[in-house]
Amino acid sequence: MSVSFPKEFVWGTATASYQIEGAVHEDGRSESIWDRFSRTPGKVANGDTGDVACDHYHRYPQDIALMKELGIPAYRLSIAWPRVVPDGKKQVNELGLAFYDRLIDDLLAANITPYVTLYHWDLPQVLEDQGGWLNRDTADHFVTYTDVISRALGDRVKNWMTFNEPLCTAYLGYGIGVHAPGIVDMTFAKAVTASHVVNLAHGKAVRVLRENVPDAQVGIVLNMSPAYPYTDSEADRQAARMNDAANNRWFADPVLKGEYPPEVLEFMGANAPKIEAGDMDIIHVPLDFLGINYYFRTVVAASSDPNNHVGDVVQLPNVERTAMDWEIYPDGLRVLLERVHRDYDVKAIYITENGCAMPDVVDAQGEVHDPRRIQYLHDHFAAVKKAIDAGVPVKGYFAWSLMDNFEWSYGYDRRFGIIHVDYATQKRIPKDSFAWFKSVIQQNGF
Ligand code: FCB
Repeated sequence: MSVSFPKEFVWGTATASYQIEGAVHEDGRSESIWDRFSRTPGKVANGDTGDVACDHYHRYPQDIALMKELGIPAYRLSIAWPRVVPDGKKQVNELGLAFYDRLIDDLLAANITPYVTLYHWDLPQVLEDQGGWLNRDTADHFVTYTDVISRALGDRVKNWMTFNEPLCTAYLGYGIGVHAPGIVDMTFAKAVTASHVVNLAHGKAVRVLRENVPDAQVGIVLNMSPAYPYTDSEADRQAARMNDAANNRWFADPVLKGEYPPEVLEFMGANAPKIEAGDMDIIHVPLDFLGINYYFRTVVAASSDPNNHVGDVVQLPNVERTAMDWEIYPDGLRVLLERVHRDYDVKAIYITENGCAMPDVVDAQGEVHDPRRIQYLHDHFAAVKKAIDAGVPVKGYFAWSLMDNFEWSYGYDRRFGIIHVDYATQKRIPKDSFAWFKSVIQQNGF
């Protein structure tokens, strides 16, 4: 069977600043919450930090050369707020801006269109010290930062994403505490407050982007996971609906519909975020596209605990899993895309991340053979194509990731790249999946 994609389909790869840049003390960059968190004993595997990461800050010309060889028409990157506005509030750092200036110029010279994420989790620590995403002032500081960076790059960068995965910022950062800033509050009162402040920041920043870059395409990136009931029982189906409401709709509904799911507000009760008059109008602002990050589906069973409203996540036995232990379930992507198209009025969708960690090894010939990653990509591309055929306006796909990098609390222990990175030497080795992806891009299909 041969599969071909629409003519204008955008192929790319994705990365994030803290995961690849390194150079954390250079050119006036201030500390981010991930510098602090990764230095806190026990938070990141092997005590790894992003201090050096892929040293992309210095090696970006070589990385762009690899992208050029790959043939990607687009590249999704994120900006480090602590490089650009180190005090989080108003101090503009020209050296930090100059780095992104060079990066964007070199990408454009290589005929690669940049897709820029403003916030991929590296909040300036100085702002966290004042409450971080629990403090509504942070939304206004984000607007200042957005203004600075969009004025600097907006003549060349036309595709902007405000936030990457607010769910992770809120639930992992201020709920279960496995991401920076590592706040544990199992009532999730803080988590949902953080999500509300992030939403305010998003809505306000979109307006600034529109003003500074009139021809911008603006969106937000949500990680979404379709919830499947474990059995056909009404109890399991109800649990799956609630899980979907808390994990998918809690983030999509406010930005795309202007409301939080009422059933979640109800069970959160006094722990629900404080919504002030006018907030929902700030948050609900027209977008040009939605970015979706898809990695796995969620299988949900009803819980016997009356205080558990979102069910228990079931780890199915005998299914194929990645090195993250995530189930490989490509059809979940098709189901998710068709559902988003049905339930939300979005003009365009990009898959802004999808990919897999695998136990890659460099062989005696110095090569990395990763057939399971190729299969993974192949099957997810096919799922995207099915969604397109069903009428979903999917405009592009960005593979996570261009290269192995700092995988948050897993440190360097998980490899998602289509390029292998030897962290001791910083040598890059394109994996077999790189060559395969290259051929897909050339043929616009497979
Ligand atoms: C997503 C993140 C991305 C990467 C992948 C594996 O949640 O956005 O930075 O770590 O997971």
